[in-house]
Amino acid sequence: MLQTGRRCFSVLARCQPIATSSARAYSTEKAQKMEKKEIFELDGRQYTPDALYNLSPAVRRLLDRRILQETSNPLNLLKRRVVDYVHQTYRKPGNRSPLFTICESEPRVVTTYQNFDSLLTPEDHVSRRPSDTYYVNREHCLRAHTSAHQHTLMKQGLDVFLVIGDVYRRDEVDRTHYPCFHQIEGVRLYTRDELLGKKSDASENAAELFTVTRDASRIPEKQETHSLDAVKAAEIQLKQFLESLCDELFGRDADKRWVDAYFPFTHPSWELEVFYNGQWLEVLGCGIMEQKLLESAGVTDKIGWAFGIGLERIAMVLYGIPDIRLFWSKDTGFLSQFAGKQPGEDVKYKQISAHPQVIFDISFFLPDSTEFNDMTSDVYDTIRTIGGELVEQVKLTDEFENKKKAKKSQTYRIVYRSHEKALTKEEVNVIHKQIEQSLSTTYGVVLR
Ligand code: DAH
Repeated sequence: MLQTGRRCFSVLARCQPIATSSARAYSTEKAQKMEKKEIFELDGRQYTPDALYNLSPAVRRLLDRRILQETSNPLNLLKRRVVDYVHQTYRKPGNRSPLFTICESEPRVVTTYQNFDSLLTPEDHVSRRPSDTYYVNREHCLRAHTSAHQHTLMKQGLDVFLVIGDVYRRDEVDRTHYPCFHQIEGVRLYTRDELLGKKSDASENAAELFTVTRDASRIPEKQETHSLDAVKAAEIQLKQFLESLCDELFGRDADKRWVDAYFPFTHPSWELEVFYNGQWLEVLGCGIMEQKLLESAGVTDKIGWAFGIGLERIAMVLYGIPDIRLFWSKDTGFLSQFAGKQPGEDVKYKQISAHPQVIFDISFFLPDSTEFNDMTSDVYDTIRTIGGELVEQVKLTDEFENKKKAKKSQTYRIVYRSHEKALTKEEVNVIHKQIEQSLSTTYGVVLR
C-alpha cells in the first residue's frame, strides 16, 4: 500500500484473490526458462532455488546496490532524520539511552512464514502470487515488507524497535514504481503498567489489557480479547507518535487526516494522510497488532501497536524528486545535491540535465603566504561567475604543501553540463581557459 494501491497488503477489497495453483504453474514454466543457479546466496546465507525461483538478473543487481547505506542518497538522509528524531524524543527511563532498538541488517530473504503466515495474511491473498513476490524457492522469498521481521524480533525479546530496509515486489517500472523500495517499520509493545499506569491500592478497578468477559467478540473498535480501555490508550499513543513524526518531517502546518484501513496483522487499522503541495498523500499504515501475532511470538502479557512507512514516497515529496528511478542514479549531478547535508536540512532537488557531463580539473599554486582556506570561496565564485549555468558542480579535490619550496597547491574539479545540449570538449575548454585566466590575473595563482 505504501507505494501504490496495486501492490498492497491493505487492499483486499480492491484486488481480487486468485487461484494460486494456476499462478504457480505459470511461474514454474517461466522459472524453468530462467538461468538457474545451484545455490542462491544473500546476506551470508545460502538457499537452494527451486522451480518457483523468479529473481531476474536486474533484481539481483538491485540487491547488491544497498542505496540506503549510501550517505549521499536522499533515502539515507531521510532515514537518518527519522532515526535521529525518534532517538531524541523517546528515551529509556533515566534519559540515558534511546528507547527504540534499530534493526537495519535483517536478512532480506525471509521465509514465507515470516512474510505472510506469521502476519495472518490469508492463504489466497494476492500478495502471495509469484507474479507479485520474488521467490527463491517454495519456502523463501525476498521480503515484500519490513513487517516480515515483526514476529522474529518479538520472539527474540524485543518490545520496542524500528526495522529499516529495502523490500521487493514484482511490478512494472514507472515514475512511482520500482521493484525495490524502502520501508521503516515500528513496533511498540506495552505491559499493563506501561500502558495504563501502575495499580495502587486505591485504584483496584483500574483498567486491564484484556477483557474479562468470556464471550468477547471482535467489533470495529477492538479485537476479541482486548479491553476497550487498553485499545484506546494504545491508539492514543500510536497516533501521537506518528502525528509528531509527521510534524517533524512535513512541518506543523501541514494538514493531516486519519483514514480507517485494513491490514491482516492489525485491528483496528489506519492510514495517515498528509496534505502537501495541494494533494492528500498516504504516508503510512498502522494499527493495534493482532494479539494472535503476539501470542505466536511468545508474548502473552502485552499489547502493541505497529506501523510501516514507505521512504521513497516521503522523500519524493520532501526533496521534490519527480521520479523514483532517480534514487538509483549514480549521476553525481543527482548525488552531489544530497552529499554532506544534515538530516534536518531543507533540501530541494534541482532537475539535472539529461546531457552528458564534461569534467575538467584546474590545478595551481597559491600566491605566497596565502592560506588554503583563504582562496577557496574566491575560486568557487570565479568559476560560477564565468561558467554560469554550464557549471553543474565544483569540488576541491586535492590540496598539498611542499614545505621545502614553501608552495601550496590546490586542485578543483569542475563538472560542466548544459540543460540545452551536449557540450563538446572544445567549447568547454574555451570557458575553462577563461576561468584559469581570471584566477591567475585576479588572485595571482600560478597554474600548474
Ligand atoms: N506492511 C504494510 C505494507 O507494506 C505496511 C504496514 C501497515 C505495516 C500497517 C505495519 C502496519 O506494521 O501496522 O503495505
